[in-house]
Amino acid sequence: MKIIKLDAIDSTNSFLKALSAQETCENFTVVNTESQTEGKGQRGSGWTSEAGKNLAFSVLYNQKIEENASLFTLNIVVALSVVEALKTISNLNFSIKWPNDILAENKKIAGILIENTFKNSNEVQSIIGIGLNVNQSQFENLPQASSLFLLENQLFDRDALLISIVNRLEFNLNQLENLNEDYFWNAYHAILFKKEVVSTFESALGNRFVGKIQKVTKDGKLEVLLEDDSITSFDVKEVKMLY
Ligand code: BTN
Repeated sequence: MKIIKLDAIDSTNSFLKALSAQETCENFTVVNTESQTEGKGQRGSGWTSEAGKNLAFSVLYNQKIEENASLFTLNIVVALSVVEALKTISNLNFSIKWPNDILAENKKIAGILIENTFKNSNEVQSIIGIGLNVNQSQFENLPQASSLFLLENQLFDRDALLISIVNRLEFNLNQLENLNEDYFWNAYHAILFKKEVVSTFESALGNRFVGKIQKVTKDGKLEVLLEDDSITSFDVKEVKMLY
C-alpha cells in the first residue's frame, strides 16, 4: 500500500484520477488529505469535513470484470470493509444505508463515492473515495451526521484507522477473486438499514412515499414493496431514503 499524504486538495478522487492518468499507479495507491476544497459526494452533491479532524481519502483499484458482472459488488465490499475496520475499534451499532452510507447508531458517519471509468470492455478503473467523520465535534445544519468522537466520547487515531480500512479492503477484494460474491451480498443485506421495515423515500422531484425495502438488486437498485403491494426498483438517481 502506497499512501500519498496531502495537506489540502480540491478532491482526493479528482487528484488520484489525474495522477493515474499521468503515471502508472499500483492498485491500492491511497491519496489522503487533511482538507478538501471541493469534496465530491453522491448524486452530484458536495462533501464537507472539518480540516484536520477526519479522514478523506481515495484508493485506486483497477479490476478486470467478467461479462454480466455486477459493478455494484465493489460498493458492497467497500462499505463492508469500512464497517469491519470500525468494528475492531468500536462496539457501536453499524449499518449501511443504501447505497453505501455508513451509519453508526443510525447517524451517518461515513460516505463513499466510487468513480468508475471503463478502460476497455473488460477493464474498469475504480477510484474509491471515502470520507469518514472521526474526531469532528460539531455538525451544523446536518442533524443526521455524526462522528466516532461524538458517539464514543473519545478521540481516535486517524492514521491507524486509514491503514486498517485499506488493509481490510485489500483483503476483501482479494477474497472476492476466490470467494463467491454472494458472501458479501449476504453480509451487506444483513446490516442494510431499515430492511423490511416501513421507510420514507423521496423521489428526485421531491415527492415523498413509503414502502418496505426488500433487497438491493445486482445492478444496485433498491427494490421496494409499495403501499399498493406492487414492487418497484429504484435507481440511486431516482430516490433517496430518509432516516
Ligand atoms: C457521500 O455523498 O456520502 C459520499 C461522500 C464521499 C466523500 C469522499 S471524501 C474523499 C473522496 N474525495 C471526494 O471528493 N469525495 C470522496
